[in-house]
Amino acid sequence: MELLQEQQKMLDREMGEAACQSMEILFALGRIYGAKNMIPITSAQIAGVSYKTIGDAGLEYLEDLVKGKARVKIPSFLNPAGMDREQWRELRIPVQFAKKQIEILDAFSAMGIGMSCTCTPYLVGIRPKLGEHVAWAESSAISFANSVLGARTNREGGPSALAAAICGVTPNYGYHLDENRVCSLLVKVEAEVKRTADFGALGAFVGERAKGRNVAFRGVKKASEDKLKSLGASMAASGSVALYNMEGITPEWNLQRGAEEILFGEKELREYREKLGEGASGKPQMVAIGCPHASLDEISEVAARVKGKTLDCELWVCTARKTKEKADAAGFTRIIESAGGHVVADTCMVVCPIDEMGFSVTACNSGKAAKYLANSCRQKVIYGDIEDILCK
Ligand code: F3S
Repeated sequence: MELLQEQQKMLDREMGEAACQSMEILFALGRIYGAKNMIPITSAQIAGVSYKTIGDAGLEYLEDLVKGKARVKIPSFLNPAGMDREQWRELRIPVQFAKKQIEILDAFSAMGIGMSCTCTPYLVGIRPKLGEHVAWAESSAISFANSVLGARTNREGGPSALAAAICGVTPNYGYHLDENRVCSLLVKVEAEVKRTADFGALGAFVGERAKGRNVAFRGVKKASEDKLKSLGASMAASGSVALYNMEGITPEWNLQRGAEEILFGEKELREYREKLGEGASGKPQMVAIGCPHASLDEISEVAARVKGKTLDCELWVCTARKTKEKADAAGFTRIIESAGGHVVADTCMVVCPIDEMGFSVTACNSGKAAKYLANSCRQKVIYGDIEDILCK
């Protein structure tokens, strides 16, 4: 692989230990995937932020980087942490967990990384343009960047995104190259997909069949950005899909001739809506909205539905802090809090230790959350649209 002078200096330890260690990671990845060079990136999104996910070993790794004087070279920001940085006491996060989480955030902050703590950077002003190269690490954000914005990112892991942030470049392979952005699976959508939970079900169905391929959708008449973020998150959770095209809706349409075709009809929609909740029903202990993090429109919808009511279960609407600030200013937070719910920033129902906090039955309208709550958070999951799952 050809390196520019500055990149070679990093590799030769002439620019400090942390830069060297980071360039070694990128160089190794580039060699494995046959990259010919490194390309500059305009932003990095770093995952592996929750103490629940990275534990003490991850914290030690970060503190070593700080000791090695690691500093990011480009705008870099975090995926959700394990707790709301401001409301963690009210939300009953265990104190020991909070202490470790603060140490992790301090380490990232010492490297110059922004504390946005969201999986929807594109909703808070970080929107790479068509063809722009970035290094993002959260699977739903990767899908949104590649598919809805037409930007270019590989499926970075926490360490590789951090290394890219420190070096300002990423190896030029995978989704950065035109030839890897072609869709070889065509999904003909005949079902009427309208609600967020429908898009989550479509994503789960396709993810199970995509086997890592890029996916093209034909037949979806209308899809807002909120619906597209839900679809991408669900497909990424069920099948590691990092790029899709939707005819007439997303900016790119690259369908391989002779691509395999599958059908998504009303029967499949019904089946996957049921499957995501494993047929569970009844009363949840918690309703969790905002996977990926809720937009202001989605928070406004929840506020309209709970206005004047008293909820008889916990309600979390997870969002980015900047979006929460807008919800505070618009009065949505006050309405949700008056009903007994919370607008929760910096974290989400999956990376926060909700099982340790005593929750075991959670309702959601997200295909991704449904998967992870059941598999990694020991939750019985109730799946449906907001109006079906909100407690009375
Ligand atoms: Fe975001 Fe958490 Fe869902 S990181 S995509 S809200 S699992």
